[in-house]
Amino acid sequence: MYTQAMDTLGKDAEDRKPVRSAEQAMLEARFDARIDDGAFIEAKDWMPDHYRKTLVRQISQHAHSEIVGMLPEGNWISRAPTLKRKAILLAKVQDEGGHGLYLYAAAETLGTSRDEMLYALHTGKAKYSSIFNYPTLTWADVGAIGWLVDGAAIMNQVPICRCSYAPYARAMVRICREESFHQRQGFESLLTMMQHGTEAQKAMVQDAVDRWWWPSVMMFGPPDDQSPNSAQSMRWGIKRISNDELRQKFVDAAVEQAKVLGVTLPDPDLKWNEERQHHDFGAIDWDEFWNVIAGNGPCNRERIAARVKAWDDGAWVREAALAHAEKQQQRFKEAA
Ligand SMILES: [Fe+2]
Ligand SMILES: [Fe+2]
Repeated sequence: MYTQAMDTLGKDAEDRKPVRSAEQAMLEARFDARIDDGAFIEAKDWMPDHYRKTLVRQISQHAHSEIVGMLPEGNWISRAPTLKRKAILLAKVQDEGGHGLYLYAAAETLGTSRDEMLYALHTGKAKYSSIFNYPTLTWADVGAIGWLVDGAAIMNQVPICRCSYAPYARAMVRICREESFHQRQGFESLLTMMQHGTEAQKAMVQDAVDRWWWPSVMMFGPPDDQSPNSAQSMRWGIKRISNDELRQKFVDAAVEQAKVLGVTLPDPDLKWNEERQHHDFGAIDWDEFWNVIAGNGPCNRERIAARVKAWDDGAWVREAALAHAEKQQQRFKEAA
């Protein structure tokens, strides 16, 4: 899923050094013209250093979000209430692993190795979507994640299918198809509990919605006026729609869906604004957002520890694959 807050870390002054040589300025002007024409940039094409760095940061954060995103829901695979729900959840969590794979591969085309990216994740240098630092306390959380978190992810990600960097855009086309299944299965799971469940199950759904609503609204990242890299990303066609615009679209859609479900969204200020033709909503607790981004959310440490353990446990597989590749190469040489 999950691209939120990708523009929260680009305060690196090194990234913004002005173009120095005349040749570079010419290359950059040509690049800008291609972007203005709506052309896609391929891995082999010349691109400004800052464009490359911005993409590596965004795509790798996105990839990390996919694989860290497997953890909160993976927590419920062994406890899914029916065989059908277990099969759906297994497929969904597996999809997220696949999304990570497409995205790491897309980032690798920019000249960064997967090992480097994972090292950055494991050492806390790279970020991932803050939403996955919240715990999944009940089965209804799995439905709420599908409905709200995958729902927010779709809003965020559909515009990236037209991202100017072609390998990223191509990966996103495949990912978005699967995300819409993720959103629907979550909604359907909640709807089943709300329509056919016991009072306790209905209360469990409402409690999950209460806990996941605000973190989902935060997934679109900081407000536009506090999102310093957004303008440049828009200029380059990496980002097509602003954080606040996407957030508004998400809120408007979710309000209608909540009515169908029969749940209340935990925001007393949420109401239709006839003049704007959108829903107004309450103030977002940005202190909470920044605190979770900074590593102090309820599950940050647990998530990274789980990823590091998976990496360590997989060492023998990587070693075996390398040994196999070396043997094959040796055989090929001998045959030649
Ligand atoms: Fe995903
Ligand atoms: Fe998803």
